[in-house]
Amino acid sequence: MKRVITYGTFDLLHYGHINLLRRAKELGDYLIVGLSTDEFNQDKKNKKSYFTYEQRKTLLESIRYVDLVIPENDWEQKAKDVHEYRVDTFVIGDDWKGHFDFLKDEGIEVIYLSRTPEISTTRIKKDLDHTV
Ligand code: CTP
Repeated sequence: MKRVITYGTFDLLHYGHINLLRRAKELGDYLIVGLSTDEFNQDKKNKKSYFTYEQRKTLLESIRYVDLVIPENDWEQKAKDVHEYRVDTFVIGDDWKGHFDFLKDEGIEVIYLSRTPEISTTRIKKDLDHTV
């Protein structure tokens, strides 16, 4: 069984996220999502999500491509997670290209997938702001 992991905030879940998750799952048999906690978003990523961690987790767990959601609490946990969850492949959008190449030293494959154009959580927030 090939196990794949990805990380992110996945706030205001949109079709760019779904495209990413679908392609990530196609790379293996079991997809794990490391979901940024509210604290991690606020303290380390300088992001405030609209949905809480529990709400974002519930949404992700209802997606057929996602097998397991775990919390992402810090930048350093990835090297540990890949062993704990016996991961074969790390995947993330190419806005992070090169950033996680160091995980290859843990003996896993690192893949950057092209982002879906024109959609992002930031853009949804901005566009909705202009319509109300
Ligand atoms: N992603 C993607 N295509 C998009 C938007 C996101 O492939 N149009 C991917 C990202 O590259 C990442 C994952 O989805 O691997 C989660 O991204 P996240 O940062 O949570 O979503 P964004 O919409 O990019 O959020 P923000 O605008 O807050 O950065």
